[in-house]
Amino acid sequence: MSAKVALVTGGAKRVGRAIVEKLADAGFDIAFTYLSSQAEAAALEHALHKRGRRAMAIRADLTQPESAPTIIFDSCRQQFDRIDLLVNSASLYLPGKLRATTMEMMRKVAAIHVQSPLLLVQKFEAMLRQSRGHVVNMIDLLAERPWPDYLIYCASKAALGNLTLGLARELAPEVTVNGIAPGVVEWPPGYPESEQEKYLKRVPLGRAGTPEDVANLVHFLATEGSYITGQIIRLDGGRSIT
Ligand SMILES: NC(=O)c1ccc[n+]([C@@H]2O[C@H](COP(=O)([O-])OP(=O)(O)OC[C@H]3O[C@@H](n4cnc5c(N)ncnc54)[C@H](OP(=O)(O)O)[C@@H]3O)[C@@H](O)[C@H]2O)c1
Repeated sequence: MSAKVALVTGGAKRVGRAIVEKLADAGFDIAFTYLSSQAEAAALEHALHKRGRRAMAIRADLTQPESAPTIIFDSCRQQFDRIDLLVNSASLYLPGKLRATTMEMMRKVAAIHVQSPLLLVQKFEAMLRQSRGHVVNMIDLLAERPWPDYLIYCASKAALGNLTLGLARELAPEVTVNGIAPGVVEWPPGYPESEQEKYLKRVPLGRAGTPEDVANLVHFLATEGSYITGQIIRLDGGRSIT
């Protein structure tokens, strides 16, 4: 039987990359998407091949839901005849208070956080049911504690959380669908140290999370979590209880 296959969106860098690496170490073959990180994607694909994994980097703009899910599906089908895990991790961390928010910004975050994840699940539904697979959606603690500086980012992540629950019901009993809501697991580039310290004072475990913390949880949900579905798991060092 061929190895299990995971598809990870936004897999070339940061958290998505850690998920890819963990799953590859665990024996999954990998398809992952990227948009602007072409060099990182090519290097990662090469490294996965060297480790003996089948791997495919797919360029797709997930703010274009009319085309991106089809490009991803068609590319995957060229190399893989099964999909066991879909991780929707690609994201647009788009700042914008009420007055600064435009139609175009709303369109983009809705497309990448809601429409494309839904359409990817639609495309891969039969394969996921066939493999008794798993979907993991990357949400955000900010979905339940919205930050006005990132108004529509937060709202679109909340919508993804709701979609996670709806899909969990729709795809049961063959497929589990869960979400991960991180606090901070990798700081945005250039995030001021004083702000980091302020945030960490409110984290009972006293540190930021790591991309590997996320990757370990994704791996658990895809291998051991067969009785877990429709859950949004906070991965926040306890930030949500302070
Ligand atoms: N980092 C954290 O502490 C944290 C906290 C809470 C939630 N999360 C969630 O966890 C997930 C991973 O976090 P992260 O910090 O690694 O995310 P990120 O760096 O903000 O974004 C991940 C990837 O999304 C891709 N992307 C951006 N625009 C795209 C588009 N139009 N089409 C396709 N792909 C696009 C980028 O790919 P390219 O580089 O190839 O352009 C990027 O590498 C995200 O869903 C995020 O919202 C993260």
